Amino acid sequence: MLIKLASVLALADSTRKEAYFNRRSFLRGLGIAGAATVVGERFSSLLSPSTTAFAGTKLTTIKSNYRVDEKISSENDVTHYNNFYEFGSDKGDPAKNAQNFRTSPWVVSVEGEVKTPRKFSMDEILTLAPLEERIYRHRCVERWSIVVPWIGYSLSTVLKLVEPSPKAKYVAFESFYDPKQMPQARYTGLAYPYVEGLRLDEAMHPLALLCVGMYGETLPNQDGAPVRMVIPWKYGYKSIKSIVKIRLQSSEPPTSWNRQAPNEYGFYSNVNPNVDHPRWSQATERRLGEIYMHKTLMFNGYSDQVASLYSGMDLKKFH
Ligand code: MTE
Repeated sequence: MLIKLASVLALADSTRKEAYFNRRSFLRGLGIAGAATVVGERFSSLLSPSTTAFAGTKLTTIKSNYRVDEKISSENDVTHYNNFYEFGSDKGDPAKNAQNFRTSPWVVSVEGEVKTPRKFSMDEILTLAPLEERIYRHRCVERWSIVVPWIGYSLSTVLKLVEPSPKAKYVAFESFYDPKQMPQARYTGLAYPYVEGLRLDEAMHPLALLCVGMYGETLPNQDGAPVRMVIPWKYGYKSIKSIVKIRLQSSEPPTSWNRQAPNEYGFYSNVNPNVDHPRWSQATERRLGEIYMHKTLMFNGYSDQVASLYSGMDLKKFH
């Protein structure tokens, strides 16, 4: 289907416009009813309850050099316009439906091709390294973007602790999934648990953030509490939420959106204004709260830091 955006949609009608780029319409088009299959692993019995992992807890942070000098998006927009399909596929669903999501106790298992596999409690994750406030651009494949003061530290801190073996080439991530707490998930068309992946060198890049908070506090449930990834040079769907498992492995892991629509969503998913989505251009984006479009930047503006990870690769092929 060829989309003639300007002629079809009035600029001011941002709600309709975002709906147009929403991947949900694609899923509905396929007539997928949804498959609630695997229940995410939990280790609650191994732990004493965390006192610090609840949404809305103030966090003490240090300033980081990783900060773009751009207007920060309103907290209300960032916490009420979400993609978190486990809680429904409308942008307002996660804020409504994730309110009672139980995020404590919580354990993240880091395993696979590593010398010392470990299960980290949230209290451990919150104290492994100083928490940095990093201001990143975040660009969704649907052409909306935000600028967010995330809180966390480089994922490499955790990966180094478990000592990757020489066989480790990729990192697979898995989100929590519980159909009882997430009854809306089965109507969204995605298979759960949500999974994502990175090459090990991408995961070790200092910009790849293990994120525990935003706007000075622990993460709101709808933004991926209690711990998520933020990978600012990639489309937002790579930034997997509510992580329970991180597995180092020798082979490329499957990813939720690639599994769903392989011709539309590749493994790499680097932000690239020169490679269109099959159904829309990726040259521009709309910041939440603004009307006019911004030009989308190569690697979302992080070329200086990450372009070398992809030298010699055809980014059209490895999209
Ligand atoms: N993680 C899980 N588990 N489930 C999801 O549906 N959506 C992804 C990503 N991580 C998603 C997820 C998409 S498409 C985007 S754009 C970002 O989360 C959105 O993050 P935000 O809602 O905090 O802006």
